Parts: sequence; structure tokens; C-alpha cells
Amino acid sequence: MSLVLLVLLLISAAAGVAADFNTDMNITWGDGRAIISNNGLNLQLSMDNISGSGCESKAAFLYGRFELSSAQPAQDEVDLEFLGNLEGQPYKLNTNVFTEGKGNREQRFHLWFDPTGDFHNYSILWTPNQTISYIDGIPIRGFMKANSTTQLPYVEKAMTLHTSLWDGSDWATDGGRIKVDWSKAPFIAHYRNLKIDACFPSESGYTCGNDAASWIEKSLSQQDLTLMHMIRDQYMIYNYCTDPKYKGTVSDECSREAG
Ligand SMILES: *[C@@H]1O[C@H](CO)[C@@H](O)[C@H](O)[C@H]1NC(C)=O
Ligand SMILES: *[C@@H]1O[C@H](CO)[C@@H](O)[C@H](O)[C@H]1NC(C)=O
Ligand SMILES: *[C@@H]1O[C@H](CO)[C@@H](O)[C@H](O)[C@H]1NC(C)=O
Ligand SMILES: *[C@@H]1O[C@H](CO)[C@@H](O)[C@H](O)[C@H]1NC(C)=O
Ligand SMILES: *[C@@H]1O[C@H](CO)[C@@H](O)[C@H](O)[C@H]1NC(C)=O
Repeated sequence: MSLVLLVLLLISAAAGVAADFNTDMNITWGDGRAIISNNGLNLQLSMDNISGSGCESKAAFLYGRFELSSAQPAQDEVDLEFLGNLEGQPYKLNTNVFTEGKGNREQRFHLWFDPTGDFHNYSILWTPNQTISYIDGIPIRGFMKANSTTQLPYVEKAMTLHTSLWDGSDWATDGGRIKVDWSKAPFIAHYRNLKIDACFPSESGYTCGNDAASWIEKSLSQQDLTLMHMIRDQYMIYNYCTDPKYKGTVSDECSREAG
């Protein structure tokens, strides 16, 4: 199965702790397949053989804390992207970070739970010094602006928040070998608990609400790092840092991955 469900993706674009889907997000595609209900508290994305669907935040942010609870459509692969899966096999979550248009920094995980069974929380903390991804409050990846000696190109352009569901058959499941089983369509993903606590670009760089005080200087504590290592040791199934394909070319990049 090769649906790709994008849980949270920040994309470069031209507060406060909100948020609801009506106030903060625009449905951007899917011709009626994205549905906001319950006074903006719930979002449903669906995909059939004609189209997937998706939405985008109205505002562009520069740093922030973003969280969504999501329950995935059954049988499929979650940046934070769920990749489709084969029945009976663990679900995979793909993460990536782009700076100055350059990606290829993928790290992939098996999930330690069934994401279709219940709502789980997916969040990204993006500060001027680091970007940390969490699942249910557990840090799974830390991407630093600087390694121990040097600042490197970092995600520091304004971005909007996206979430979408689309057919990723050409790459997502086992590199594209397994196609979507359309007899099981429509595929439906449910979202709730959208939280946006962000800063915005301004003339002086960026401007934050008071809430930012609690996270803008956050870094991974020793305890966070211990937990993160435990999870990565057990569940990381791909890391660009150890891919022979990139041998000799990613040491600077990998020297700024947390841990
Ligand atoms: C899409 O699915 C519908 C309903 O199952 C079916 O009737 C239709 O023929 C399919 N269209 C295409 C282009 O596969
Ligand atoms: C969101 O929708 C509103 C109203 O339709 C529109 O004015 C605005 O440009 C849209 N914003 C984005 C980022 O698409
Ligand atoms: C996700 O977050 C919500 C709201 O903050 C909380 O009620 C819920 O227990 C969390 N779920 C998990 C699985 O951590
Ligand atoms: C980012 O890191 C630098 C160097 O460690 C530090 O001086 C600065 O205060 C940090 N900025 C924030 C917003 O945490
Ligand atoms: C950090 O990055 C700089 C610049 O690319 C590189 O020269 C240096 O070796 C890196 N430091 C470590 C500890 O890898």
C-alpha cells in the first residue's frame, strides 16, 4: 500500500496557542475530500482513485511549536510522513529536513504502535537553534543549526504548515514496488487537537507571543537524549548518515544531528 499521509510539514512560504482548523488552516486541494467539522476542532482528509486532499496554514511562521493528533487510515504508510505499508508489517514514519532547497536527510522509523488504532500526537518544535520531532511527546530526531564548532545552513525562512494525503505509489512503499489497492478506497485520515504556538517574521527577524518564552530556548535535556537514543536504537530503520550512497559527503550534516 502506498498512501502517504503527511502529518506535519513546514514548507517555506513567501498566535499564540490557537488553534482550530477553521481559523488557522485553509483547505487547499481535494475538491471536497477535506472536511472540517465540529466547529473547527476536527479535520478529515480522504483519498480515492481520483484525488487525495490537503490543507495549509493561513499564516506563515518563523519558528514555532506545532502539534496534531492523528489517526491514520488503515493499511498505510507519515518531514513527518506516514508511508503505506503491507498488511501485517509495522508502519513507517519518514522524517526529512530541507535547508536552502536541499533535502536528502531522511531518517525513517518503524512505529511502536498501530497508528490506525487510535489518535497519536505528532509534533515539531522549531527554534532558532534546533528542530525537534516528537511522537507522543517522545523526541525521535533533533536537527541542530550548529555542530560543536560551526553554524551550518539551517531552516530559517518563513514556512506554512501543511497536512495532506496523497498517492505516493511511485516511491513510498518499498521504493514504489507496491501500488495502492484502490478496492479499499476511500482512505480516510482523522485529525484533531491542532496546536500552533508560533512566531512570525518581522523586520527585526522574528516576533513571538509570550508563550514562546517556554520553548524558544529549549534544547534536549539529558533525559530527552536518553529516551531518544533508546527509541532510535530500536526503531530507526534508515538513516542517511549511514547510507553508503552518501558515504564521505554527509559528515558535516551528520555532525549536527542530535546525539
Ligand atoms: C474509481 O473508483 C470508482 C468507484 O470504485 C470506479 O467506479 C471508477 O471506475 C474508478 N475510476 C478509475 C479512473 O479508476
Ligand atoms: C486562505 O483562504 C482565504 C479565504 O479564501 C484567502 O484569502 C487566503 O489567501 C488563503 N490563504 C492561503 C495561504 O492560501
Ligand atoms: C495527545 O495530546 C492530547 C491533548 O494534548 C492528550 O489528551 C492525549 O492524551 C495525547 N495522546 C497521546 C497518545 O499521548
Ligand atoms: C542559540 O544558541 C546560541 C549559541 O549557543 C545562543 O547564544 C542563543 O541564545 C540561542 N538562541 C536561542 C533563541 O535559544
Ligand atoms: C562542523 O562543520 C564544519 C563546517 O562544515 C566542519 O568543518 C567541521 O568539521 C564540523 N565539525 C564536526 C565536529 O564535525
